[in-house]
Amino acid sequence: MHTRTLGQGLQVSAIGLGCMGMSQSYGPNPGSRTDMIGVLRGAVERGVTFFDTAEVYGPYVNEELVGEALSPVRDRVVLATKFGWRIENGASNGLDSRPEQMKRVADASLRRLRTETIDLFYQHRVDPDVPIEDVAGAVGELVQAGKVRHFGLSEAAASTIRRAHAVHPVTAVQSEYSLWTRDPEPEVLPVLAELGIGFVPFSPLGKGFLTGTVDTTTTFSDGDVRTTIPRFSEDNRAANQQLVDQVTALAQAKNATPGQVALAWLLAQHPSIVPIPGTRRIERVEENAAATNVALSADERADLDAVAGRLGVHGDRYNETHMVLVGK
Ligand SMILES: NC(=O)c1ccc[n+]([C@@H]2O[C@H](COP(=O)([O-])OP(=O)(O)OC[C@H]3O[C@@H](n4cnc5c(N)ncnc54)[C@H](OP(=O)(O)O)[C@@H]3O)[C@@H](O)[C@H]2O)c1
Repeated sequence: MHTRTLGQGLQVSAIGLGCMGMSQSYGPNPGSRTDMIGVLRGAVERGVTFFDTAEVYGPYVNEELVGEALSPVRDRVVLATKFGWRIENGASNGLDSRPEQMKRVADASLRRLRTETIDLFYQHRVDPDVPIEDVAGAVGELVQAGKVRHFGLSEAAASTIRRAHAVHPVTAVQSEYSLWTRDPEPEVLPVLAELGIGFVPFSPLGKGFLTGTVDTTTTFSDGDVRTTIPRFSEDNRAANQQLVDQVTALAQAKNATPGQVALAWLLAQHPSIVPIPGTRRIERVEENAAATNVALSADERADLDAVAGRLGVHGDRYNETHMVLVGK
């Protein structure tokens, strides 16, 4: 797979692997922990070099899994993790990006990831109680100490990105972006292009919806995050189906899969965009990685944009509790 360059010269595979679903969010895992280690190592064998985890995934067990799986190939991969939560009794309980907390988290993540350096350390959500300048300054100290290589933000507003970047250079912003989540387009993406910062779309497959494998007949198990998300209500799934139908039609015409078209659309938006689709199945790692071979013409992209614009999206991308944390 070819590589792409985020900000500050950080080179990664053009498609990364989101590891969250291996430990939470999408219902029962189809495989064992050993199977997931196989998926992670299999991804490296297939050219994926960019892996995304977070302290809060599990919590902790996702970083431990990624650390165990990738320590034998540590020199071939870029490890991204995230700080910014107060974790109590095995669950997140509010935000905490105080510098002293960030430093504790960095040390704990280093141990779990079995590494001496975190390649990319993202603030997971902007903390309204801690000035972003203090967060950027603390990352700078972690960089000085050799514990972190690069600074990232997640779901940060354009003005926050500018303020952070003025204190310590930001390498990547990770926010939700896909054919049905266009929030970063008006303000965030132009600022990133101006400042030379990379962009990492999370949930690039629309949490599975854009692959055409989720429809009104799908039953989500208890604990599947999609049971809490308005756009996955049965009515909204029905209303949003037309967009997937268009993606599927284009995919068929191009001898590709709908998921590949969704990823190819993202790759075509800007050369510093690196999607991180999440999957627990090696055949889907392969399928998603092969999206780099699907080229969309300007007309095909314009058609998709027109259809998506005309149809709109039914339902918010998070429930009310989580909506207040994004776009800060
Ligand atoms: N910064 C943040 O706040 C934030 C928030 C959410 C996620 N993330 C990161 O972004 C990563 C990706 O996002 P995501 O996992 O939420 O959403 P996603 O990548 O859009 O979709 C994941 C879902 O799609 C399915 N899937 C994957 N590839 C498929 C394919 N080729 N065909 C059919 N179904 C496919 C997966 O099922 P299977 O696993 O069964 O294949 C899973 O249910 C996460 O793993 C995490 O690292 C970050």
